[in-house]
Amino acid sequence: MEKTQQIKTILSEKPVNREITVRGWLKSKRDSKGFSFLDVTDGSCLNGLQILADSSLSNYHSDISRLTTGCSIEARGLLLPSPAKGQTVELHAKAINVYGWAPPESYPLQKKHQSFEFLRSIAHLRGRTNSLGAVARVRSRLSWAIHQFFQERGFFQIHTPIITTSDCEGAGEMFTVTSLDLQKLPVAGGAVDYCQDFFGRQASLTVSGQLEAEAYALALGNVYTFGPTFRAENSNTSRHLAEFWMVEPEMAFCDLENDMNIAEELLKFLIRDCMENCAQDIDLFARFVDKNLTAKLLNVVQYDFIRISYSEAISKLEKADMHFTFPVAWGIDLQSEHERYLAEKLFQRPVIVTDYPKGIKPFYMRLNDDGKTVAAMDILFPGIGEIIGGSQREERFELLKNRMEESGITLENYQWYLDLRRYGTVPHAGFGLGFERIIQFVTGMGNIRDVIAFPRTPGSASV
Ligand code: 4AD
Ligand code: MG
Repeated sequence: MEKTQQIKTILSEKPVNREITVRGWLKSKRDSKGFSFLDVTDGSCLNGLQILADSSLSNYHSDISRLTTGCSIEARGLLLPSPAKGQTVELHAKAINVYGWAPPESYPLQKKHQSFEFLRSIAHLRGRTNSLGAVARVRSRLSWAIHQFFQERGFFQIHTPIITTSDCEGAGEMFTVTSLDLQKLPVAGGAVDYCQDFFGRQASLTVSGQLEAEAYALALGNVYTFGPTFRAENSNTSRHLAEFWMVEPEMAFCDLENDMNIAEELLKFLIRDCMENCAQDIDLFARFVDKNLTAKLLNVVQYDFIRISYSEAISKLEKADMHFTFPVAWGIDLQSEHERYLAEKLFQRPVIVTDYPKGIKPFYMRLNDDGKTVAAMDILFPGIGEIIGGSQREERFELLKNRMEESGITLENYQWYLDLRRYGTVPHAGFGLGFERIIQFVTGMGNIRDVIAFPRTPGSASV
């Protein structure tokens, strides 16, 4: 099969008076006397290419006149300047072949507007719509930009395991991975005997690559992971998935301050990159999904993020002239209503909250000198809430061991992690960026299920 140019390239280079071939799917067809206009997309960009199909084509009556939305075709012809408004070039077809039909009586993607809820029920086809296609392109660009950001700064990518025996966040929200026969589970002492399982112990899908990334930060300096993570938490919200992707940089010889600086730089870099390189798709979201999108994006890239401590945040919340469902007091975990108040009402821009009480944060965060708080930082975004969670890690052996014991962690399973403090320990820090949450912010999409191709949420994993 001859190599075809993508419509994106054709529309940007406009090689008029040259013969070209395009392949793609029909978005719509308009018939006139003696010819038809076909609007064809190949997914490479939002715009389709207009194809003029004259009734003198040999298969005009047998094929072309029967084309409907969703049919796949190949068209060869001359690219010429278009006399009509709406496009600068159009293809005058010399030959059109049909690859596949899409019977309109059953093809679910017709031209009319379809809700995101409905599109979720046909996840395997929704990438063909303008909006979900644009999300997929933005997602791909952001993924590339993440690698670019870290690679340009000398970070090494580490592939951390998906199957793990460590619970990084210690929240007990892990999916067990087993090859045991669920109808005949081996039992020892009243509990499932995982010694007989595939790995000889209980294993799970990872909730984070952080602990393993720490091992490599203490070998290569600056590293990052970027992969899928899994949480069996029963959160049915527009911000939670059971399977989501996370970017986790980990930096040796780094404190909380530098950790925050890198995180802020990364978020601004990603948003700027998308505004530049996905302008057409972002414009679609600004027109049809969130009218204030451009202002919201600029608001993040143009100003410094607010940085306040958890204790300051609590006192601001206590003084707020707003009723919260969850009462505010020092020691509580910030709820989404509190996060929204800070980022959307009070400061109206991203807020980095630091130094949380140790009781509401995982064991690995570094204890501050006050003995009550840890060197944690969460970045809260307007409209999103927490987009990044990070911390300086506890690098002191005794203190880490104490916190692990306090948290009820089985030390036996974490000797390897303690080794990192036994041998050549150094101050280090890192954070986790929820990949879908940054895509939500950049696209303005309200529901996280619409920024990942095949979402997994409680009660739902079709396709
Ligand atoms: O705050 P979290 O739980 O932090 C960690 O997992 C650390 N190990 C990261 C680190 O320091 N290396 O998760 C990090 C981010 C959150 O801020 C949020 O953006 C996203 O991951 N996230 C989720 N995104 C979608 N669905 C979920 N269920 C998420 N849980 C967390
Ligand atoms: Mg968090």
